[in-house]
Amino acid sequence: MNAIEIEEAISALFDKPCEPETFPAEFLEAFGNKTTTIKRLQSAASLSDIEGAVLLRNNIHLKVCSEGLVGSVFNQLKISPTTTKNKVKFIFVTDGTTVEAEDLSGDAPLVCEYQDFPNHFGYFLPLAGIETVKQIRDSSFDIRATSRLNKLYVELLKDNPDWGTSENRHEMNHFMARLIFCFFAEDTDIFRGNRLFTTTIEQMSDRDSSNTHQVIGEIFRAMDAKIELRPEARLPRWAETFPYVNGGLFSGSIKVPKFSKISRSYLLHIGSLDWTKINPDIFGSMIQAVADDEERSELGMHYTSVPNILKVLNPLFLDELRQQLELAGDNARTLLNLRKRISRIRVFDPACGSGNFLVIAYKQLRELENVINERRGEFGRQSEIPLTNFRGIEIRDFSAEIARLALIIAEYQCDLFYRGQKEALAVFLPLDSHNWITCGNALRIDWLSLCPPTGTAIKLTGDDLFDVLLDQAEIDFKNEGGETYICGNPPYKGNAKKSADQKLDMSNLFNKKIDGWGLFDYVCCWFFKAHEYAKHTQTKFAFVATNSVTQGQHVTGFWRLLFEDGLKFNFAVRSFKWKNLAANDAGVIVVCIGAGTPAPNVEIYDEDKKISTKNINAYLMAADDYWITPSSTPISDIQTMQKGNYYGMSEYLIFDSVRAAEYLKDGLGASYIKKFYGSSEVIKARPRACFWFPEEPPVKVLSIADIKERINQVESARQNSKDAVSNGMVKRPHQFREMRSCKNSFLAIPVVSSENRSYLPVDLLDNQSVISNKCFALYDAPLWSMAIIASRLHWAWIGTVCVRLGMSFSYSNTLGWNTFPVPRLTEKNKADLTKCAEDILLARESHFPSSIADLYEQELMPQNLLDAHNHNDEVLERIYIGRQFKNDTERLEKLFEMYAKMTSKK
Ligand SMILES: C[S@@+](CC[C@H](N)C(=O)[O-])C[C@H]1O[C@@H](n2cnc3c(N)ncnc32)[C@H](O)[C@@H]1O
Repeated sequence: MNAIEIEEAISALFDKPCEPETFPAEFLEAFGNKTTTIKRLQSAASLSDIEGAVLLRNNIHLKVCSEGLVGSVFNQLKISPTTTKNKVKFIFVTDGTTVEAEDLSGDAPLVCEYQDFPNHFGYFLPLAGIETVKQIRDSSFDIRATSRLNKLYVELLKDNPDWGTSENRHEMNHFMARLIFCFFAEDTDIFRGNRLFTTTIEQMSDRDSSNTHQVIGEIFRAMDAKIELRPEARLPRWAETFPYVNGGLFSGSIKVPKFSKISRSYLLHIGSLDWTKINPDIFGSMIQAVADDEERSELGMHYTSVPNILKVLNPLFLDELRQQLELAGDNARTLLNLRKRISRIRVFDPACGSGNFLVIAYKQLRELENVINERRGEFGRQSEIPLTNFRGIEIRDFSAEIARLALIIAEYQCDLFYRGQKEALAVFLPLDSHNWITCGNALRIDWLSLCPPTGTAIKLTGDDLFDVLLDQAEIDFKNEGGETYICGNPPYKGNAKKSADQKLDMSNLFNKKIDGWGLFDYVCCWFFKAHEYAKHTQTKFAFVATNSVTQGQHVTGFWRLLFEDGLKFNFAVRSFKWKNLAANDAGVIVVCIGAGTPAPNVEIYDEDKKISTKNINAYLMAADDYWITPSSTPISDIQTMQKGNYYGMSEYLIFDSVRAAEYLKDGLGASYIKKFYGSSEVIKARPRACFWFPEEPPVKVLSIADIKERINQVESARQNSKDAVSNGMVKRPHQFREMRSCKNSFLAIPVVSSENRSYLPVDLLDNQSVISNKCFALYDAPLWSMAIIASRLHWAWIGTVCVRLGMSFSYSNTLGWNTFPVPRLTEKNKADLTKCAEDILLARESHFPSSIADLYEQELMPQNLLDAHNHNDEVLERIYIGRQFKNDTERLEKLFEMYAKMTSKK
């Protein structure tokens, strides 16, 4: 269940009176527990020692008690030994009037009225395996509002199918933006009176909903009519109460979709929420999925947390401003200059979605400005920071609408907070009519036209700019001469996932400039454009990107050219999980990269460490710029590594060990069967089996069981394949594409392996084994090669220079093995390393039948195996520098230095 579904279930449960009999089961179900778990819980003896309480291990201890006993029962549950014994995470008690709950991991307890609980349901999201940040836990409003608006959106599309067509979607999205504005305005006194919008609709529209759209249409018309023009507008008397809002929001078409009874009631219900609690940054991220048919199923899951946004904005410019503020102390003149500087800053997000980076940047600058005002004794002073200096480009229409709205709301909230309600209201209406968020494709728009180096003299004003999409470049930046910071979280799209349009974007940008761009992630386009932009005007830019852009071919194919063109990284945040509200923390792995105007000292952020350095290279290391390029042969004196046997279109030649035993029983010679390993088979020590026919299989063999049939299946699969190589293999369907094996033994190295091991998996296999193309092999190699592959040095190298899939390692012979610098080894070195490899194998053997998967789990590695690896590292590292390296950074520095020397000689 996602957060939206949980919210809906919880709201439905707490809307009705509490039934002690059924409440616990319904509560657990609302948080995504399976019916079978709940039934089992009900039928088994209670784990709790408190009568009537329900205890779910590793989860919750809850009870519905008699009226007035909530406090004492809560204490009973909390101190109960069964709570500790069963590792309970949450305590929950209610008597149907009050709720008392606590997250035992240390968050403040929650006490609220029963009906109010849905407003706090975020507190319990960890129960459903959903990671939350404090902000969400404190205010569940954004999820609730998203959920309600989603229902309304879907219902309205049902009632008005023509509004769902691509021609009318903009109208629909604009309508939703207008509604959201009205809900916010009626709760914040922007509209006078209590819930003016909702109450007017409730009172003036018929209960059968037939004229709801007309009532809303009249309200919207009122908000488009300047007060002095009201007589001409001939508004109904009840609509006169609404202020003139416009700013483009209510101009143009005032078409309103028709409402059914259901959608009318949804609308009224949404109005009953407390919209003062809206977080424009969170809400925007969530609500944008409503308008996207594909994303709607993931509603509420994509929310970028403020701490993650600050990972970009702080090092980009906010930290430096805070430093300046600190230095300014109470010096009125310096503070004034800083305020002027802040008021001129432009922030530009060329993939702004619902504007969350812009909103946070705006709020942070308002905070700094307020500190300055306070230190200068100018409390409540009107802000000099113009909202229109926070510019964005967004390709999706609804997100662009929401981004503008989110900024408008943020401005009001800041005014309210720093200046008070009277002042906030005084400057709020009418809305500024400038359209400073552009809806369009950022890769096909000239950024210089949206954010010109010095601004232009032309100023557009008008009432319909909310609707005009492109060409709003000429809007003045208020307060000329400021710095420009480009930031954001542009889309990441790997090789296979790019649409035809996105490929065209890339070809337009990169053709004739960068070779091999087809392999790059789509996000590279934003770095490229920002770099081009920075050539024309002093700017710094920073984007979040998938961590793969700092690995493999991205480094040598993409960054190298930009670095050669003068680009330098100003800061970097190394790989971290981009968490959102998806259950079980299914976040992608990202980095943040800041570049632009060079700085003498730059910083790398790695978890909670901050590393100051002179240079950050494209692998995000504090080191000189190195470019590791794939090589077809090893640069060191080590054996050539080969890929295993390609098994696509050959699946019928592979079977499990039970089937293998049957073939042997049916008379198939043992030499015709081999153990078959891919990545996971090596790691889990669970090989499958395959036919191995170096020659045409004898007729006798083909008569055994289904062997002929299997071979025929391979033949027809290859025949029907669209791939020419497969077609070419039709004549030998009894064989894999390659038939590589060893004489005596070989080392198998899985292509993909988990990052959660301190060493790469490698195993020694016998000549009865073969591997698929999911592994690499060193056939009949000296055992000292294993000591190298199993070393920490190699682990660090592969993790840095090869492409990663998420955080997982993805081994490459050309990029990882062939490039690996190994000093010239003496016979003694080789003998020592051979002994180390034997010791590792023996240590593993002592835990037979445990597999690599069992033995190499971090923290759980058996001591003798750990000792064997440590010794291996010591022996190998002495060969490199005469002692052990202090850490991976030192290892990498040495390896890069050696690589540079060895390749320059070549
Ligand atoms: C990863 S989201 C980030 C949005 C927002 N900062 C957030 O955290 O929710 C990327 C945004 O870029 C938008 N986008 C994708 N391709 C674009 C393009 N070519 N031009 C402008 N925006 C684009 C998407 O619609 C999406 O809103």
